[in-house]
Amino acid sequence: MHQKKPLALVTGASRGIGAAIATRLAQDGFEVLINYTSNEKKAQTVLDHIHSLGGTGELCGFDVSDSEQVDEKFESILKTKGPLRTLVNNAGITIDSLLLRLKNEDLDKTISVDLKGAIYCTRAAAKQMMKERQGSIIQISSVVGESGNSGQSAYAAAKAGLLGFSKSIAKELGTRQIRVNVVTPGFISTDMTGALTEAQKEAILRNVPLGFFGEPQDIASLVAFLASPSSRYITGQVIGVNGGMYM
Ligand SMILES: NC(=O)c1ccc[n+]([C@@H]2O[C@H](COP(=O)([O-])OP(=O)(O)OC[C@H]3O[C@@H](n4cnc5c(N)ncnc54)[C@H](OP(=O)(O)O)[C@@H]3O)[C@@H](O)[C@H]2O)c1
Repeated sequence: MHQKKPLALVTGASRGIGAAIATRLAQDGFEVLINYTSNEKKAQTVLDHIHSLGGTGELCGFDVSDSEQVDEKFESILKTKGPLRTLVNNAGITIDSLLLRLKNEDLDKTISVDLKGAIYCTRAAAKQMMKERQGSIIQISSVVGESGNSGQSAYAAAKAGLLGFSKSIAKELGTRQIRVNVVTPGFISTDMTGALTEAQKEAILRNVPLGFFGEPQDIASLVAFLASPSSRYITGQVIGVNGGMYM
């Protein structure tokens, strides 16, 4: 008889970095739940690709910033599929603005999705993982949360918040063998960075010692390691994947 595959949930997996992470985890033997909020078609394309590679998964649409939806979804996952082994909090948005023009609604939205969303999902996943006495939770933060970036103060606040949050719960959950780590990507080619002008891209690359933008797979490789038993002694860490732009 086949052994049941470990279960992973990747938030914001309909495109970009999340799609690459979901695909990689499926290739590494996880059954992967592909979360999205509005783009079901793109999420289905990711799932079709995973199936074409011989992997298994399911779509799992919900809004990470809605705590009731999150709790309901995680309960139903537990009932139908069993407990999660890995949670990757990747869903994120940016609404860029200089501080004096920062609107309350944009600040609220950014904090709600990028920080509170990750906290809601982590809390719901930890409940399941604690009973199992194993699990790996991986937050996708940003280099901007470490270095700061003009015009991105709300985003930086949310992404930096993930660092303090994750270190705290790494301490709370360590005795249950639940590991919590943070990945801080630099500039990665996705829809999020697609809006940059050529001049902006050139300016960014001047500060990247390796001299090129990363690809979503560069983040997925580290996440795959952090989700695997190979990283069993690593928790509470913040690991940059940024071409050297922040050290
Ligand atoms: N790209 C970079 O250079 C870079 C650098 C540092 C950090 N990051 C971080 O890496 C993560 C992924 O970035 P990306 O560039 O791949 O982003 P992206 O291409 O813009 O994709 C964002 C993903 O998040 C999902 N999402 C947005 N709001 C959501 C919500 N409320 N509930 C559930 N899902 C939601 C989107 O779903 P829909 O498709 O349904 O809208 C989509 O799957 C983000 O946290 C981002 O901050 C990216």
